[in-house]
Amino acid sequence: MEPQALAFEERGSGPTLLFVHGFPLHAGMWKAQVAGLAKTATCVAVDLRGHGMSDAIGVEGATIDLFADDLAATLDELGTDQVDLCGLSMGGYVALAFWRRHRARVRSLILADTKAEADSDEAKAGRDATAKLVTDEGLAPLWEKLRGVLLGESPSDEVVARAGEIILSTPPATAAAVALAMRDRVDSTPDLAEIDVPVTWVHGAEDKLMPIAGAEASANGMKDATLISIPKAGHLSPLENPDAFNDAVRAHLARVRG
Ligand code: MLT
Repeated sequence: MEPQALAFEERGSGPTLLFVHGFPLHAGMWKAQVAGLAKTATCVAVDLRGHGMSDAIGVEGATIDLFADDLAATLDELGTDQVDLCGLSMGGYVALAFWRRHRARVRSLILADTKAEADSDEAKAGRDATAKLVTDEGLAPLWEKLRGVLLGESPSDEVVARAGEIILSTPPATAAAVALAMRDRVDSTPDLAEIDVPVTWVHGAEDKLMPIAGAEASANGMKDATLISIPKAGHLSPLENPDAFNDAVRAHLARVRG
């Protein structure tokens, strides 16, 4: 399948900071980052293939590697050589694939509420069930399942509403295809020790889907990585505590820029 340039929101000036959303979300999850960090960087938040305003052509059968190649095609269109790349959860899987496939274009990585490991057999079976669920019944039952685990201990009504609004806007065919793409992603753990750019793992302290201890262990095994914990936030830390998340990004970029 051919890589395609993606829809994106762009704001700010300075070196490009590229945001990649999680599953089953879209670029709108980065609203507070794009607004809050525009004085620090040129913030570009993409809608992955089939999400938000991006074309859905080729979403069926898409892979995490193809999503990474779509990022490269988007940078080509923007005329941008190198980026600081921030991916949340599935966006982190894409960021790690992008490093494998396009590493010369990566100035640094922010890995938010994500992990390097591939799916276990049990998780793979869960992906098949998710694909069937959304195909048969749409996103509503998936959101019902996710709302208790995606957010921290006491999310505000506003954050719950925003997460639900974004998730329920995702086309079922996209969610089904992406569940299978995540099922089939490769293990990125062997890459961790090889990554030679500055890395910050940013993780909600209350993340129930991917407990923060995993991110800490991953950061410890890398050449130049640090971990920043986001208080009062679960898996969707940029939405749940945007001020702390944005401070973490500023600290990361200050480190990168020396
Ligand atoms: C995400 O937030 O992108 C998903 O939780 C990732 C996953 O299901 O592995």
